[in-house]
Amino acid sequence: MVSRTPQFPFLISTLSLCTVLVPLAAAKPHNSTLIYHNNNNNNSVRNCSCASRVEDCNKAQANMLCSCRTVPLSSITGSTGFTYQGGLTVWLKDPWVLRLLVNYSSVPDLRLAACGANPLPPEYLTVFGLKRLRIYNSAVGVEFPEQGLSIEGLEKARGKQRPLPQETPHISFMVSFLDLALLNGGSSLKAYSVKHLPSIGGYFPNLLFPSPFEPADSQHCLVTFIY
Ligand SMILES: *[C@@H]1O[C@H](CO)[C@@H](O)[C@H](O)[C@H]1NC(C)=O
Ligand SMILES: *[C@@H]1O[C@H](CO)[C@@H](O)[C@H](O)[C@H]1NC(C)=O
Ligand SMILES: *[C@@H]1O[C@H](CO)[C@@H](O)[C@H](O)[C@H]1NC(C)=O
Ligand SMILES: *[C@@H]1O[C@H](CO)[C@@H](O)[C@H](O)[C@H]1NC(C)=O
Repeated sequence: MVSRTPQFPFLISTLSLCTVLVPLAAAKPHNSTLIYHNNNNNNSVRNCSCASRVEDCNKAQANMLCSCRTVPLSSITGSTGFTYQGGLTVWLKDPWVLRLLVNYSSVPDLRLAACGANPLPPEYLTVFGLKRLRIYNSAVGVEFPEQGLSIEGLEKARGKQRPLPQETPHISFMVSFLDLALLNGGSSLKAYSVKHLPSIGGYFPNLLFPSPFEPADSQHCLVTFIY
């Protein structure tokens, strides 16, 4: 016991170094996209391109710091599956913005902020290629106001990088299922992943997963449930 004690300061300084380095390394030169639904207008959303971080749910600040435009819903309905390159932030009061703009989309870096008073329902959001998720609830007195997680293919060993065994195929298809009720901030974020699945429907027959989005035969899947 006694001999271990001196290791703690080292461990702690390594951890805090990582915490500092990760945001820097992850900083992208591209603007991030911010989407929220328009004030008093259920026929459109605002779509902003932001070079700097905006305080969640602060529309006035978004209008000041970002370049925003109004997108009529009529121009979106019918299309599914968008691809977001940089980060995507969505501020929501109702799930419909997500249903239209994020469900079955490819989003590597997603931030969801619940800005309304009504709790969000336990609906599932399906996202491809998700690597980083942050969720936030702006209400006062929420038990878990802000939480996050990262998803990695297990090839990337945590900490020290190990060489890949030759027979380990690369994960080429990632899909995550996220329970929207998590945004209510009443429970801590948990996730589990199943990796190297040759197909999704075959392994999770009860999962609502439209066949157009099924991966190709040669792809190795990483399926993550966030609950
Ligand atoms: C707003 O529009 C969406 C999509 O058309 C609909 O699902 C939702 O119920 C509407 N919400 C309100 C408060 O009218
Ligand atoms: C939002 O704007 C970005 C460009 O900043 C564009 O790539 C994206 O398709 C737009 N999304 C919608 C739903 O209009
Ligand atoms: C990036 O965001 C800034 C505002 O934050 C805007 O002025 C600029 O046009 C955006 N760039 C692109 C490529 O959208
Ligand atoms: C995403 O689409 C699936 C299948 O249509 C649906 O069951 C689910 O409720 C949608 N999620 C959201 C957040 O709208």
